[in-house]
Amino acid sequence: MRLDFNENTSGCSPAVRRALAQLTTKQLAMYPEYQAPTRRIARHFGLRPEEFMLTNGGDDALRVFFDTFVDSGSSILICEPTFPMYRYYAEIYGARIAVLRYGSEMEFPLGGVIAALRKKPRVLFIANPNNPTGTLLQEDELRRILKAATHTAVVMDEAYAEFSGFTAMPWIRKYPQLFVAKTFSKVAGLAALRLGAVIACKDSLGLVRRAMPPFPVNLAWFAAELEKLGVKTYRSAGNFLLANFGPGGPALFQKLEKQGILLRERSKDIGPGFVRITIGTQSEMRRLLKTIRKE
Ligand SMILES: Cc1ncc(COP(=O)(O)O)c(C=O)c1O
Repeated sequence: MRLDFNENTSGCSPAVRRALAQLTTKQLAMYPEYQAPTRRIARHFGLRPEEFMLTNGGDDALRVFFDTFVDSGSSILICEPTFPMYRYYAEIYGARIAVLRYGSEMEFPLGGVIAALRKKPRVLFIANPNNPTGTLLQEDELRRILKAATHTAVVMDEAYAEFSGFTAMPWIRKYPQLFVAKTFSKVAGLAALRLGAVIACKDSLGLVRRAMPPFPVNLAWFAAELEKLGVKTYRSAGNFLLANFGPGGPALFQKLEKQGILLRERSKDIGPGFVRITIGTQSEMRRLLKTIRKE
């Protein structure tokens, strides 16, 4: 009996099973088409399509905030105990983590959060209801947080919102600093599909969209991103890519190395600026691109 991941043990709706059973071989072979499902799901939540972005699971819906707002050294604010992925991503991205704790009755540390927001952390993550405490923010508490968050993106992680009856989604039209992260792994019973979403007002979601590839990362996508930067790449049948950054390459590779990003430089045996890059996870490749663009 698996009672350790907060899945919906009754499973998903029979309608979802029927829809999945109808998928054709061709549909499975193709990269998914996002527009029509985005429109339909957004409508289900009472949102406009520009306010809704599908992601690869709830974890991915959280990661995009790091790609969008967090550089190494910027600070994020969390209240623990909570879902461990906020801390996990923060550590990977080299963010400073400001931590408050839920009270002895597992009450939300509102006073501490309002005070901490004066220091303008880049992102505040709140799971609402919180995992594992089950704590639910009151509406007036959320309003006070949003008013205080003048320089902070407030991410409400609503993985369990349907169980609580409260969602901050309609608030996005009033508060551009509000982002809602969702997952279809819980009430919808679809954890295996890795389906999540980010919800925000059109302009704010536009910021996040820029950090999202059009489809999950693979070699072709990464090569195309490098080509956009004027870097020549070579068709590869492996899990790596040969690229030519030209004369500026060696200095760039050194800068990347100082930031803990190791590539296999091939300047000596192929030509100055040649490098072999292993194709890693989505967040690794995005981090690499972001760093290359900055340097
Ligand atoms: C608060 C919270 N947010 C997000 C997630 C991640 O959901 P997903 O399975 O879609 O990655 C979980 C999963 O346990 C969670 O508890």
